[in-house]
Amino acid sequence: VLEGKCPFGGDRIGGAFTTPPTLAEWYPNRLRVEQLHRHGPRANPLGEDFDYRAAFAKIDLDTLKAEIKRFLTSSVAWWPSDYGNYGPQMIRMSWHSAGSYRIADGRGGAGEAMQRFAPINSWWDNGNVDKSRRLLWPIKQKYGAALSWADLIVLTGNCSLEIMGLPTYGFGGGREDAWEADDATYWGPEVFDMTQVDSFDEMVNRDKRWRGQNGDADYDLEQPLAASHQSLIYVNPEGPYASGDPMASARDIRITFTRMAMNDEETVALIAGGHAFGKSHGMVKADRIGAPPEIAAIEEMGLGWHNPEGTGNAEFTMTNGIEGSWTQNPTQWDNSYLENLLGLEWEQTRSPAGALQWTPVSGDAPRTPDAHIEGKSHALMMMTSDIALKVDPVYRPICERFLTDFDYFTEQFSKAWYKLTHRDMGPRERYVGPEVTIEPDLLWQDPIPERDYELVDAADIGALKQWILDSGLSVSDLAFTAFSAAVTYRDSDKRGGANGARLALAPQKDWAVNRRTVPVIARLREIMGAFNDGATGGKRVSLADLIVLGGTAAVEKAAADAGVALEVPFTAGRRDTTDELTDADSFEWLKPVVDGFRNYVDDHFTEVTAGRVAPEELFLDKAALLKLSAPEWVVLTGGLRALGANWDESEAGLFTDRVGVLSNDFFRVLTSMDYVWTKQDEAGLRFTLDDRDSGETRYTATRNDLVFGANSQLRNIAEFYAAEDGHPRMVRDFVKVWNKVMTADLF
Ligand code: HEM
Repeated sequence: VLEGKCPFGGDRIGGAFTTPPTLAEWYPNRLRVEQLHRHGPRANPLGEDFDYRAAFAKIDLDTLKAEIKRFLTSSVAWWPSDYGNYGPQMIRMSWHSAGSYRIADGRGGAGEAMQRFAPINSWWDNGNVDKSRRLLWPIKQKYGAALSWADLIVLTGNCSLEIMGLPTYGFGGGREDAWEADDATYWGPEVFDMTQVDSFDEMVNRDKRWRGQNGDADYDLEQPLAASHQSLIYVNPEGPYASGDPMASARDIRITFTRMAMNDEETVALIAGGHAFGKSHGMVKADRIGAPPEIAAIEEMGLGWHNPEGTGNAEFTMTNGIEGSWTQNPTQWDNSYLENLLGLEWEQTRSPAGALQWTPVSGDAPRTPDAHIEGKSHALMMMTSDIALKVDPVYRPICERFLTDFDYFTEQFSKAWYKLTHRDMGPRERYVGPEVTIEPDLLWQDPIPERDYELVDAADIGALKQWILDSGLSVSDLAFTAFSAAVTYRDSDKRGGANGARLALAPQKDWAVNRRTVPVIARLREIMGAFNDGATGGKRVSLADLIVLGGTAAVEKAAADAGVALEVPFTAGRRDTTDELTDADSFEWLKPVVDGFRNYVDDHFTEVTAGRVAPEELFLDKAALLKLSAPEWVVLTGGLRALGANWDESEAGLFTDRVGVLSNDFFRVLTSMDYVWTKQDEAGLRFTLDDRDSGETRYTATRNDLVFGANSQLRNIAEFYAAEDGHPRMVRDFVKVWNKVMTADLF
C-alpha cells in the first residue's frame, strides 16, 4: 500500500519497464533488428540441451491417444461438452492452429502452438479456443515437457476425428513450442483494437488489405497474407463485409486457401469435412461479450470472451455469432453435410446474435438435436461460406463428386487434414512417432529420394575441391551459386535450402536472381559426371553436395588470399531430387522479392510496393527466416560483398579493389567518413559513395548496403568488423555463419 510521501515511491509512479511510450511508439518505422533475437534460449525454460523430439519419441502414443479419447467424451461443469463430445471444438482448435499457415513466407501454422500467445490467442476467430486448450491442460500437465502444446493440439484433432469415425492419414510429432509471443509477423495493415470497436463488422470494414472490389479482375490480397481480414484464420463466414454473398465468399475462399497451399479439391474437402462435425455458437450479441484473453481482467486467468448470459456456456455459448449445426448427427463422420448443402434449398436468416446465416426453405427438412437440452431440436444451418461451395462453378462439381463417392471424399479429407496439420514441419524426416505415414511420399513434403550410393570421403572431398578450383570457375561464381542454393531455406516452414539441388530445377533455375548459377551448374555437372564415372566402391557425389562444396572451396581460397588460412567445414550427404518430385507452383512462392545478400530487388518491388515496405525490411525478414542473429546477418552480408556475390555481377556494395578476397573492406568503407553517400534515384534505392574532398564517385551501393551503416544496431556490429582487430574475427565469424546457412536444411 502506497501511503504518505515516501521520497522513493510515493503516489506518482508513472511507469515501469515496458510502459509505453517506448521505442515502438516513438519511432514506429525504425528497422527492428532486435527482433532477430526473439525466441531465444533465455525465454525457454526447457534449456538449450533439451531434446524434445527424443522426449516425445519415448511417449507410448497408444496410451496417450486413449487418454485423449476418454477425455473427449467426458464433460466438465465449467465448460460442458456439446453433445457430450469435445471432438468438434477440438477439431476447430487444431484447424485454427494449423490454418494460420501461409505459403508466401511460411509463417503461421501449427508448428509452435503460437495459438497460445497474442495476437493469435485473442483473434476474434479464435473465440473460445482458449477453453479448448484449457480443457486439455490436465493431459498436458501429466506429460509435461515430453508433450508440446503444438503436438497435443494437432494430436487431439486427430483423436477427435477418429472417435467420430474418420480414419486419419497419420500423425507426426516433433513440434517444439514457442515460449513467447511473436511480436513481428505481419498479419495485415488494419489496426485492430477490440476495445475501440463495438462489433466484428465494424472491425472488418476497416480492412485495407484488398486491392479493388470482390469481383474485379485484379481483385487481390496483399502479400504475404492469407486471411481475408485481420484476426480471422481465413474468411468471414458471413461473406466479405458480412454481405451474405456466396459467390463473393467463394472468391475469398479460393484466394485465402490457395495462400495456405491448398488447391480447390483440398479446399472443398477441408471445409465440407470439417463442417460434418459440431456446431456454431451465436446465442448472445457480440457487444455483450468480454475482452479477448490478452486484455481480459486479471482474474479471468488467461481466459477471455466472458459471456454474462445464463451460465455463459453450454446452451448460452456465444463464439462466432452464427448459431446452429450443419448436420443431423454432428458427432458422426458421414456425408450429411454435402447431402444437406446440395439437396436442400437454403434462405438467409439471422441468428439470435444477429449474424447472417442460412436455413432450409422447407419445413420438412431434417433437423438437428440441441447440443445440451434433451428432446429439443433445431433447423439446420449453413454459413455463407458453405453456400459458396454450392454456387462456385469449380467447387460445386467437386462437392458432387464427394457426394456420390463417400470413400473418395473420406480419403481426400483425411489427406488434406494431414497436409494442413503437417504442412509447416518440413521434410518427413522431421516427423517423430509410430504414426508417421511412410508411403506414399507426398509432393507437398518436397521429397528427395533416399541415397543408394556411398558418400565421398575426406580424400575425395579434398580432390573435388581442387578439381573445382582448377575448373576455371571463379571464387565469386562458386560462392554465389552455393549461396543461391542454400538461401531459399526458411525456418518458418523448413522448406527450401541446398538439399535436393532444386536450384538446378524449374522453377528456381529460371529465376532472374539465379541466372548467374546456370553456367556454374553446367560446369559442376561435368565435374560430377567425371568423378562419378571414375569413382570406386559405390561412391558418388550429388550435385547438391558439389554445389555446396564449390562454395566451401571458394570461401577457403578467399580467406587464404586474405591471409587467413583455415578449413571451411563441409558436411556431405545432400541428395538430388527430380522435376517429378518438385511442385513447381509451390516452389515459386520461395522466389525472393528482395534478397539483400545477393543485392537483389525485383522490378516488381519498385513499382508496386515502394513506399510501404522498404527493401531493407524484406532483407531483415529474410535474415529472420534464415534464423540469423544480427551479428550473423552483418558478417554474412559483408563477406558476400567481399566475395562479389551480387546476382547481376554489378559493383553495388563491392567496396573493394580485390573482389574475391575475404577482406573486411566492406565494413571499413561503410564506416569511413571519407565518403558522402548520395541518392541516385527518386525511389531512394541506389546511391553513390563520393570522395568527401574531391567529390569523385568511388563506389555504388543500394539500401541493402547502406543499412549496415545507417541502422544503429547494425552499425555497431559493422564497426566491430571494421576495427583494426576486426578482420580475423570477420573471417572466423563469416565461415561459421556460412556453414550454418549451408547446413540449415540438414535435419
Ligand atoms: C465451426 C467458419 C473451415 C472445422 C465453425 C464456426 C465458424 C466456422 C464460424 C463456428 C464457430 C463457433 O461459433 O463455435 C469456417 C469458415 C471456414 C471454415 C469460414 C472456411 C471457409 C473449416 C475447416 C475445418 C473446420 C477447414 C476443419 C477441417 C470446424 C468445426 C467446427 C467449426 C469442427 C465446429 C466447432 C464446434 O462444434 O465447436 N467454422 N470454417 N472449419 N469449423 Fe469451420
